[in-house]
Amino acid sequence: MILIAPSILSANFTRLGEDIKAVQEAGADWLHIDVMDGHFVPNLTIGPQVVADIREITGLFLDVHLMIEKPEQLIPAFIDAGADMITVHIEACHHLHRVIASIKECGCKAGVSLNPATAECLLQPILPELDLVLAMSVNPGFGGQRFITSVLSKILNIRAMIDSQRLNCYLEVDGGINDKTGWDAVQAGCDVLVAGSYVFQGSGLQEAIQSLKALKA
Ligand code: DX5
Ligand code: ZN
Repeated sequence: MILIAPSILSANFTRLGEDIKAVQEAGADWLHIDVMDGHFVPNLTIGPQVVADIREITGLFLDVHLMIEKPEQLIPAFIDAGADMITVHIEACHHLHRVIASIKECGCKAGVSLNPATAECLLQPILPELDLVLAMSVNPGFGGQRFITSVLSKILNIRAMIDSQRLNCYLEVDGGINDKTGWDAVQAGCDVLVAGSYVFQGSGLQEAIQSLKALKA
C-alpha cells in the first residue's frame, strides 16, 4: 500500500487547521511537517509548539522531518509535542546511532534522510535500526522544486537493501512529487510519498491526493 503524506509547508498558515482537516478528509495517511532552522537549510519554518497545536486537532500520524543542525537538542521537545516519527538528516548528525537510539527510547519511530548527493551506502550500518528512510528528491529547504530524477536509482538500491535484509522499514520520497514523479518513485520502490505544492497549490486537493493514492507498484 502507498501512503500519502501531504507536507504542510505548502499549506496556508493563516488557516492551517482547516487545511489539515481538508487533507485528512481527502484521504491523507500521514501529515508531513518540515522543520527548518536557517542553518542546515536556508529557510525557517516551525518549532515544537506548532506541532503540539497540530496534535490537538488531528489524529493523523505526524511525520516530522528535521532539517536542522544538532537535532539532538530539539528531539525531546518534538517528541513531547506529539510527533509519531522523527526523521533526522544523516548529514546533520555526528553521532547518528546515538540520535536514533534516543528517539526510539522515547517510544517514537525514527527515520534517516539523505540529501540528493548523499550516497545510500552510508545507511548500511544504521539501516536495521530504522523505521523509515527518506530519500530527498530535491535539495531541502523549499517547496515547489523540480524532482531530481537521478535519485530514482538510489531509491532502487535502498529498496534492495531493505528487502534483502527483510527489514520493516518505510521508504519515503520527498520533493517535487506529483502523479508522474510519484509513479516513478513507486516503481523504484517507495511506499510513502510526501507532496506539498502538488496537494496544496494545484487545482484540487482531493483529486491530487486520490491521484497519488491510486499509484501502485
Ligand atoms: C523540502 C521539504 C519538502 C517540501 C516538499 O525541503 O522537505 O517536504 O515541502 O514540497 P514539494 O512537494 O512542493 O516539493
Ligand atoms: Zn520534508
